[in-house]
Amino acid sequence: MAQYDALAARLAGIEKTIHFYRENMEFPSFLRALGPVGGKRVLDVGCGDGVYARMVAQRGAERVVGMDSSGEMIRLAEAAEAEQPLGIQYHVHDMATMPKLGSFDLVMAVNVLHYADSRATLEGMYRKISSNLAPGGRLLAYVGNVDCDAEAARGFGFLLDRPADPREGAPFTVTIAATPPASVQVHYWPAASLAQAAESAGFSRVGWEEMIHSPVSSDSAAAGLSRLLKNPPSLLLSAYQE
Ligand SMILES: C[S@@+](CC[C@H](N)C(=O)[O-])C[C@H]1O[C@@H](n2cnc3c(N)ncnc32)[C@H](O)[C@@H]1O
Repeated sequence: MAQYDALAARLAGIEKTIHFYRENMEFPSFLRALGPVGGKRVLDVGCGDGVYARMVAQRGAERVVGMDSSGEMIRLAEAAEAEQPLGIQYHVHDMATMPKLGSFDLVMAVNVLHYADSRATLEGMYRKISSNLAPGGRLLAYVGNVDCDAEAARGFGFLLDRPADPREGAPFTVTIAATPPASVQVHYWPAASLAQAAESAGFSRVGWEEMIHSPVSSDSAAAGLSRLLKNPPSLLLSAYQE
């Protein structure tokens, strides 16, 4: 994706800005919902530099494949794989047109579904995910929370615009308060629409996982995380292919 090709060279600075949030809320909530991955076949769609692909490979997944539409992000993922080989395979594909890459027990889609610009594109993404899942396989997807507490999120490096005309698929900007600030255009998807689209694409047991945060030593950071927990920047959707 063109906007991520441009951001890839700045990824380290961007990640540093939101590291505290990811480390203390995003990653622990995901790992809690994920459970054991030993022996599982895992596909990471919109894998970026492969942070989640590495996480599951290090936890014993049998096979891990990552894909992203940005060639530059995949280049970063492959560089990390070359530095610390974990047997992860990476591919450049757009989710709208990706082929079947295998039969997976788990597909992870971390902060990628909200790049869909229409209901048809969103359902198409879910269908591509579905065609890569084995029967009984699970989708775990972080999606942007349009009801995020923008004031609390600002304290963790996220500057959130609201679309002037909030309707499904409307574009708006999320800025990470790095130096200089890094903006990406995302699309407006209320949680209910994301869940409905998953069901329309054939997923069952569609639900939202509990968000948690790690214990942190600073009182002000703990207060900020507790407030953010009520309306965090991302929500974690879980769904199954029966
Ligand atoms: C916010 S980043 C998340 C990266 C990674 N999942 C993580 O958590 O660090 C979103 C990623 O989704 C990718 N992406 C956006 N739209 C995509 C699409 N249609 N198909 C595949 N990848 C896409 C971008 O290139 C980018 O790497």
